[in-house]
Amino acid sequence: MQPACVPVNIHYRDGEYYIGPAARFEAVTGKGAKTHRCEAKYMTLLGKKGLVVGIANLDSVAYGCAKAFRRDGAELAITYLNAKAEPHVHPLGEELKTAIIAPLDVRVPGQLEAVFDRVKNEWGRLDFVLHSIAFAPRDDLHGRLIDSSAEGFAMAMDVSCHSFVRMAKLAEPLMDDGGCLLTMSYYGAVKVSENYGLMGPVKAALESCVRYMAAEMGPKRIRVNAVSPGPMRTRAASGIKDFEALMERAAARVPEGRLATIEDVGNLAAFLVSDGARSITGNTAYVDAGYHTTS
Ligand SMILES: NC(=O)c1ccc[n+]([C@@H]2O[C@H](COP(=O)([O-])OP(=O)(O)OC[C@H]3O[C@@H](n4cnc5c(N)ncnc54)[C@H](O)[C@@H]3O)[C@@H](O)[C@H]2O)c1
Repeated sequence: MQPACVPVNIHYRDGEYYIGPAARFEAVTGKGAKTHRCEAKYMTLLGKKGLVVGIANLDSVAYGCAKAFRRDGAELAITYLNAKAEPHVHPLGEELKTAIIAPLDVRVPGQLEAVFDRVKNEWGRLDFVLHSIAFAPRDDLHGRLIDSSAEGFAMAMDVSCHSFVRMAKLAEPLMDDGGCLLTMSYYGAVKVSENYGLMGPVKAALESCVRYMAAEMGPKRIRVNAVSPGPMRTRAASGIKDFEALMERAAARVPEGRLATIEDVGNLAAFLVSDGARSITGNTAYVDAGYHTTS
């Protein structure tokens, strides 16, 4: 396990800060340096390798997480849904300097196995997986839960929940030194949320899977957690009826009047997959600017 913090000297004067030799700060700014020695957050994911599933574009929650994972030193493999999605995801993969960019539609037989085979062949191991995908057919999502079709419900459950279970099964042999599996839930799992329909029960099942998977994988030091972000403008969210109105109501409700962002989710996700979170498992953590605490 690497240290979470390292001591550094910060040189500063008149609102300018520099970490490095004081002489350099003075040469660049022309100011006499004041120096403060403190503990700085180290790149806590240095040496870790992670698979990120769910980047569609710049707005994706998974992209916010991938940025934070990279910032903290992790090496990443990412996936894109299909040929149509690839041109949107590829540039982001290049920006993130990802080692692997692979196609993955969890409904296509063999694609998930192919991604894990590639990870095995190129890395031989894996430290964390982010599962940030969800899908429900529009008619089933927009109608009442009790009107949903068996096929629509099963498809939503398969893509949004059971795919996480399948990923865990494939990740397990690659996590021989422990690891962490993360998924994305929503408050609609625990409270009836307007227009969330059948995704509520699906997310409830996902949160329950997290607890059972954590219990089953704990002996191998594999932690399993869910993150529950507040509402954010993404492609998936745009499929929820009257989503803009929900965003406005949420913004009016949260304590600081400001909603959480994908960067906020990334910060929490990066902590959860780090060794600093070694005692956090089976948990659902909210990063929603306090939305779930208000009524
Ligand atoms: N946006 C929000 O308000 C919000 C809030 C809480 C939780 N979430 C959750 O965050 C996760 C990511 O969604 P997002 O909001 O970033 O939207 P997004 O549209 O950016 O991401 C959804 C991803 O799911 C992928 N996907 C859909 N079907 C798939 C399949 N068959 N195989 C593989 N991938 C598939 C899409 O390609 C896309 O990358 C979802 O689980 C969502 O429920 C979103």
